[in-house]
Amino acid sequence: MIIRKSLAEIDAIAASGAILVRTLRLLERQLRPGVTTAELDAAAERFIRSQGAVPSFKGYRGYPASICTSPNSMIVHGIPGPYELERGDVLSLDVGVTLDGWVADAARTFPIGPVSVQASHLLAGTETALFAGVERCVVGGRLGDVSHAIQAAAEGQGLQIVRSLVGHGVGRDMHEDPQIPNFGKPGSGQRLESGMVLAIEPMTTIGTTEVVAADDGWSIYSQDGSLAAHFEFTVAITPDGPRILTPWHLAEGGDTVESQLANIGGRARVG
Ligand code: MF3
Ligand code: CO
Repeated sequence: MIIRKSLAEIDAIAASGAILVRTLRLLERQLRPGVTTAELDAAAERFIRSQGAVPSFKGYRGYPASICTSPNSMIVHGIPGPYELERGDVLSLDVGVTLDGWVADAARTFPIGPVSVQASHLLAGTETALFAGVERCVVGGRLGDVSHAIQAAAEGQGLQIVRSLVGHGVGRDMHEDPQIPNFGKPGSGQRLESGMVLAIEPMTTIGTTEVVAADDGWSIYSQDGSLAAHFEFTVAITPDGPRILTPWHLAEGGDTVESQLANIGGRARVG
């Protein structure tokens, strides 16, 4: 069952999203060789709690940390620990913030110092695929339009879409209906309605569409060891178009109408 949200409820998720964006910015400033993923986790948890919010992931189905840190061929759900970032790594950071019972969920893959041309291409292409999906989050469209737009953009860049991991509805629960595959057929699936809040999250690799799960019960890698990326927004469908509730793409202080339009091609509102 898809739970549609009122404008006030969407504003509440945006408030969680604003803390989430500040968390990602704080983490981004700490990314350098030698930093451990456990240090990033501690910084994220401290900041989120300082804002009167809760890290949504902590304790979720027994998940032991506040964020997910997934380097290189790890696609998602990496548990922070002693791993030290290295120059040339890519690192996916996935953050969930709950404020007043409302969850926002977002992720972004960062380069650690200069990275290979292939790695830059992977990151840029996956971010483009996310925006292609967001642009389809409009009343009257269908879920398959979103899925297809993500797939077409990613595959058009020569990237592979991970099949077994999907986006999802988000609200009072981190994972609500519907599931949102990152591949699909235009014109198919659930109709999109005002008030739906969706976590759109393409996960890609430069090699395979297949994944393997690690022994820790959480981390998921590309099966062939190829580099992976994960970009995610929480997005509300509104009568005015898609509204990005976790706008990590905006420069700090850059939340003017002009900068929003410049950043997203004029089709999505932000915040
Ligand atoms: N963004 C991730 C997801 O949508 C967050 C889950 S991590 C977990 O699946 F640890 F909380 F499960
Ligand atoms: Co998610």
